[in-house]
Amino acid sequence: MITLGEYIVAKQNDFPEATGELSLLLSAIRLATKVVNREINKAGLVDIIGTTGIENIQGEVQQKMDLYANDTFKAALEARGEVCGVASEEEEDFITFNGKRSVNSKYVVLMDPLDGSSNIDVNVSVGTIFSIYRRISPLGGPVTLNDFLQPGSRQVAAGYVVYGSSTMLVYTTGHGVHGFTCDPSLGVFYLSHENIQIPEDGQIYSINEGNYLKFPDGVKKYLKFCQEIDSVSNRPYTSRYIGSLVSDFHRNLLKGGIYIYPSTASSPQGKLRLLYECNPMAFLVEQAGGSASDGFNRIMELKPTALHQRVPFFCGSRNMVADVQTMMEKYSS
Ligand code: AHG
Ligand code: MN
Ligand code: MN
Repeated sequence: MITLGEYIVAKQNDFPEATGELSLLLSAIRLATKVVNREINKAGLVDIIGTTGIENIQGEVQQKMDLYANDTFKAALEARGEVCGVASEEEEDFITFNGKRSVNSKYVVLMDPLDGSSNIDVNVSVGTIFSIYRRISPLGGPVTLNDFLQPGSRQVAAGYVVYGSSTMLVYTTGHGVHGFTCDPSLGVFYLSHENIQIPEDGQIYSINEGNYLKFPDGVKKYLKFCQEIDSVSNRPYTSRYIGSLVSDFHRNLLKGGIYIYPSTASSPQGKLRLLYECNPMAFLVEQAGGSASDGFNRIMELKPTALHQRVPFFCGSRNMVADVQTMMEKYSS
């Protein structure tokens, strides 16, 4: 049984140039995960479900757990001093850490502290997503917006936690995707899924089909294709949509499938945020052998222009993403 901490150290030793800072950063994330996990498990017993009555910068109603998770991850990242700044779904601007260690640290973190948060009131899985970059501004000076607006291809590490029927942390540092399951009696994450590979051809499609009439024609054609009967490609595919990106992504990663949140007539940029939802998932899925696209371009090559930028998202098994991209190019460009 290998723990997450042991695994990170073992991997770090494979790279002579590693200084251990990234390992410490990941251990800060691990600690915050345990705290958030403990709280989520109490939902229904203590006063943490429901909304704060406040809207966040995206105009979405903040849940109490959104704020709790945001504060917990920020505090853990600041305390270790391995991060000089953080950007979060729940914060309008990025945050600079001014501690002595923090100002000289080389990493910034972007995060969705609680993904799928509206599901928490009904005991459905939620998650956390994180994305880590090396800053591009000089060490010791102020953190800048450009440190956060880097293309996804420059990510140093990314991962997510799924607070599901068991709690799992899945991450990549660009050398495969590895999953760890929490033993709740010990509060320890053990390696349970080493080197995850997503099947090239999946059988599951995940999309909020209630928006069908607002979808681009390319997506409508693809959905009809998914529903056709064809014994060779084993269609119709199965439709599965939880409404927590992390949970939908995690299932498709393990079983093979595609997650789609396209542009719609009312949200031409889609719903999901490039920097702390799509880029980290794109990095993970590519590391597992899959792909991620905005319908036309590779997600990780997009040049971000704003912290909370949204982007259409097609992510999962490589051949499924290729199929829908072909239809987008034919019917929606
Ligand atoms: P968040 O809770 O961080 O705001 O994210 C919710 C996102 C994502 O998790 C999910 O896949 C999607 O919103 C669901 O949107 P719809 O309700 O429009 O399907
Ligand atoms: Mn989210
Ligand atoms: Mn969120």
